[in-house]
Amino acid sequence: MGLIPQSVIEDVLARTDILQTVQQYVSLKRAGNNYKGLCPFHDENSPSFFVHPGMGIYKCFGCSEGGNVIQFLMSIEGWNFPETVRTLAERAGIEIPEESPQQAEAARKRREGKKIYLSIMEAARDFYQEQLWGARGEVARRYLAERGIDEETARTFGLGYAPDGWENTIEALGKKGFKPAWLERAGLAIANDRGGHYDRFRHRVVFPVVDVWGNTLAFGGRALASDGGGAKYINSPETPFYTKGEQLYGLDVAKAAMGKEEQALVVEGNFDVIALHGAGIGVTVAPMGTALTEVQARLLRRFARRVIIAFDGDSAGEEATLRCMGALESAGLEALVVRFDEADDPDTFVRREGADALRARMEAAQPLVAWALDRAIKPVEGATIEARLGALEAVGAILTQVKEPAAWEHYAREVARRLAIEPALLKDYLKRPPERRDQARQAVLKAGQGTRLPSAEYGVLAVLLDQPKWLSDFFREELDKLLSSQELADFLRVVQNHYQAHDGINRPLLLEATPPGGMRETVIAALAEVESQRLYGPEEALRWYRDCVRTLKKAWAVRMDEHLQRELNNVDFRSERERFVQINEQLEQVRQFRKALDLDASSPSSASG
Ligand code: UTP
Ligand code: MN
Repeated sequence: MGLIPQSVIEDVLARTDILQTVQQYVSLKRAGNNYKGLCPFHDENSPSFFVHPGMGIYKCFGCSEGGNVIQFLMSIEGWNFPETVRTLAERAGIEIPEESPQQAEAARKRREGKKIYLSIMEAARDFYQEQLWGARGEVARRYLAERGIDEETARTFGLGYAPDGWENTIEALGKKGFKPAWLERAGLAIANDRGGHYDRFRHRVVFPVVDVWGNTLAFGGRALASDGGGAKYINSPETPFYTKGEQLYGLDVAKAAMGKEEQALVVEGNFDVIALHGAGIGVTVAPMGTALTEVQARLLRRFARRVIIAFDGDSAGEEATLRCMGALESAGLEALVVRFDEADDPDTFVRREGADALRARMEAAQPLVAWALDRAIKPVEGATIEARLGALEAVGAILTQVKEPAAWEHYAREVARRLAIEPALLKDYLKRPPERRDQARQAVLKAGQGTRLPSAEYGVLAVLLDQPKWLSDFFREELDKLLSSQELADFLRVVQNHYQAHDGINRPLLLEATPPGGMRETVIAALAEVESQRLYGPEEALRWYRDCVRTLKKAWAVRMDEHLQRELNNVDFRSERERFVQINEQLEQVRQFRKALDLDASSPSSASG
């Protein structure tokens, strides 16, 4: 067995969650940013054993045992070093190449390279910061002030200014002994075709990208004006020591607050991070122009269990929000979402409404999965079975990302209810791999067309049989007028009278009052449904009822819309002008009504996990 390469050890340490590992041996309680419990290495009655997930270490203040996750396993399992690393590597899916002397040499070179890299970045950061606060930085300081960034916040994030000109950075770092070729490798300089170099960052505000250990790994550079030409942001390229999707902008500053609040806020823009931090929302980070990656999600998990995505209000922000779901779910994080109006981002929102308003939104944040499902379902609610089936592909794509079985069940039931598809058929559909869903689809289609009452009407019947006290409101609000089945409307009157006369529902008696054929079979099925719905409790019954009523309204509006359009086609708008105008007005009202229903649809069905 050869030596284990240093890079493998680094990988193992980066990819192993010390908290999870230690928790397999010791029961731990949260204590601020850390976790504590009874030390497994000596006898004690009050806990003095601490794990610091953010730092990746453990420490006992009783017996002074301490170290990283490798050392923990060596102590507790009595394994030797290579054994431990090999075990952890295997768990994390890291392959261990046998290391030759040449490879050992390469690893040593890489370590040295990283040292130089970090000192270049450090020097550049110092230089840009000096520029911002020096004479040449006036214009950049004014820009920051205009955007409401105060000096303290700017200094906390190490903001800087890369001056206008082609060789400022090259010159300044040259004086410290860093050659242009090195700066090129570090991404700070770009080679021109005459064998020379020029600065990558020119006349821009620079944002150092800092890792959790406090090392500056890269820079983002924002143009000072929007009309200046060129990209809004120019960023460091990836280097052997910087991979974009593995860092989070602002994490170094935000991690302490995240530990305290036990939550993180993920926004799109570097500027959002800084503005929110300045406004006192210190748990904010940004993924720097991508959706959240799995590595970034795992990084967050070290500091917080609850992650709120608050991307820009535009459709790009909405799409990017959706793309965060997989990473958050597979990291086992509680994922929530806050959405803004089309033109807003967190920065503009906080500037206009204040930090407390954003805090309120964070507290009311909707579960990401519920939000995504709502978005997929809303447009087809109350539509034909074919249209509802059309939404299932999107629903399936969302639900395959939900790893926790109880949550999956909960959401599947919710979807079944809102799409009015029998739960068993829906689950069968969802549990199949996408390429084998055709049969399940046919079954849903067949069942959907087979029911004698539209599903929402059947749902209303079932809920009202369960909660007959809602019947008087149902009639008072004239919801019976929305039913497409006169038979059902009549029957509900019978139920209402029965309920009032008997002060409850006597099922055999009620069935007696229902003539055989027609409604009776449906009522028997609905009563059975009520039995199984008992599992759900009154709160869910109410939610189900509201969903059904909303669907009824939608279905009514669709029918009215079609009806009025048919009418319109039969009217000669020259000879019957008045009638033509009147129908058009009615049509407009129906469409307004539909629109209002769509806007209203997002709130009541959001599940809270
Ligand atoms: P934004 O355009 O939302 O940037 O892009 P921002 O930081 O919020 O800036 P303002 O408030 O509009 O001035 C979000 C993030 O995407 C990356 C940056 O990391 C930015 O913070 N980005 C954006 C780029 O890398 N390149 C670009 O050209 C634009
Ligand atoms: Mn932005």
